[in-house]
Amino acid sequence: MSWCSAVVFSAVLAVSWGAEDLSFPPGFKFGAATAAYQVEGAWNASDKGESIWDRFVHEDPGRIFNQNNGDIACDSYNQVEKDIEIAAELGLHYYRFSLAWSRILPTGFPNQISKEGADYYNRLIDGLLAKGIEPFITLYHWDLPQPLQDLGGWANPLIADWFEDYARVVYTLYGDRVKLWVTLNEPVVTCDLCYIMGIFAPGIVSPDVGTYLCNKHAMLAHAKAWRVYDEEFKPKYHGRVSIANHLLWFEPLTEADTELADLARQHLAGRYCHPIYSKEGGWPASIEKLLEKNSRDRGYNRSILPTFTQEEKELVRGTYDFFAFNHYTSRKIRWAKEGETFSQWPLGDAEELNGKIEIPEHWTPAAASWFFVNPDGIRQQLLWLKEQYGDFEFMITENGMATFGGLEDHDRINFYREYLKQILIAIKEDGLNITHYTAWTLLDNFEWSDGYNVKFGFYEVDFEDPLRTRRPRLSAHWYKKVIQEHSLDVTNDEL
Ligand SMILES: *[C@@H]1O[C@H](CO)[C@@H](O)[C@H](O)[C@H]1NC(C)=O
Ligand SMILES: *[C@@H]1O[C@H](CO)[C@@H](O)[C@H](O)[C@H]1NC(C)=O
Ligand SMILES: *[C@@H]1O[C@H](CO)[C@@H](O)[C@H](O)[C@H]1NC(C)=O
Repeated sequence: MSWCSAVVFSAVLAVSWGAEDLSFPPGFKFGAATAAYQVEGAWNASDKGESIWDRFVHEDPGRIFNQNNGDIACDSYNQVEKDIEIAAELGLHYYRFSLAWSRILPTGFPNQISKEGADYYNRLIDGLLAKGIEPFITLYHWDLPQPLQDLGGWANPLIADWFEDYARVVYTLYGDRVKLWVTLNEPVVTCDLCYIMGIFAPGIVSPDVGTYLCNKHAMLAHAKAWRVYDEEFKPKYHGRVSIANHLLWFEPLTEADTELADLARQHLAGRYCHPIYSKEGGWPASIEKLLEKNSRDRGYNRSILPTFTQEEKELVRGTYDFFAFNHYTSRKIRWAKEGETFSQWPLGDAEELNGKIEIPEHWTPAAASWFFVNPDGIRQQLLWLKEQYGDFEFMITENGMATFGGLEDHDRINFYREYLKQILIAIKEDGLNITHYTAWTLLDNFEWSDGYNVKFGFYEVDFEDPLRTRRPRLSAHWYKKVIQEHSLDVTNDEL
């Protein structure tokens, strides 16, 4: 990588916002994230059980770009020291990673705890702490143990109890050293991408029923895992637990689409936030009404959105210690015209809402098909959350940009700078309490359906090389500098 290219990004910054104060508040923390299946590899090491992603990629390799899979991925299972080393090189305050449920509990149940599996995460946690990096754990990032899938997975209400049992094992193993937790990562992806489109494991298409069953059970599972911590572990360990929802920002295409845009926000964000963060709990009223009507129109005799009992509403309501969310991109939405056909959500349309997605020309596309750059979206998203649910401590648990590779990733630096600038505005002008920013991702990894084709990493990984050599991109040097200076005002001569 060439240091000369560093001149470019600071020059651009000076032109666009030079006079402003670009420093972050004291105590603001920067991190980076990964997920187990995307980096670990070692899918069959020691007594690890099979996960739904192992099954999904092996059963039909054609499901993934270039028939890629996560069998080896970044080989992080065998090269954990290298990940810790680059996290330290960046100067991260914390590292957010997920645990492979089937690595710790090979059967999915707590009847068998894998010593080698549990030790892997001990090595990671202890190695991070030795470098002064706080471990931030995600309990579930999409890799359900296959034996639980065989019993219905997220469509079975008992998943909430199974997840609670798993969570208790994990808090017992690591709670003494880990103080920040997320239960589920982006359940909207687990439920909608799996059941509407079948493009993610377990690849079951059941857009009416499966999607909403999964939605409800994810809420119950999160709540039970939160309450286990709150009751059994928080008194001695004083850690904090929440959920990381995926929020896409929706804007109306024209004024006539304002109500639709709100419906789209409720459908995507509200279904996963309202039960937890709203004062009254349960589903958003507008979604309950819409899905009742859609259910009748499609000949169902009860709503496809399963109701919460009063007891379940109370179980889920208030189960957070902070408000975490992942954010990447935005959409414009308009009402569909008579007879217009739909492509599938979330890459295309919002058929459930009778909405069509439009992307304005000035939102630059990124390497992934679903991805367009709209920095203002993250601030608007934050303001909407405050307006809907009230004031919270907010943590951005993922944000980052896809490219097709290359070490001189000016476009990624631009992306981070522009999105972080909006976060600064939200803190300084809107008065929001945003305390953590998590870049996705530490290093290139297995990007689900896109395989290794799409790159999100600060570090490039050579997937042809058995050593999976990691090399810093320009953006790695930039992020390191931002963390060091605690400011977006980073100058070239120091780089
Ligand atoms: C693990 O899977 C790999 C393929 O990724 C295979 O070559 C190897 O034999 C398997 N190891 C065991 C112990 O089954
Ligand atoms: C639908 O449910 C109602 C009661 O909610 C019942 O009266 C009706 O017979 C049911 N229809 C069918 C086809 O099962
Ligand atoms: C932000 O939230 C944290 C955690 O609740 C709290 O300690 C801090 O005082 C808050 N900061 C502001 C500026 O409200």
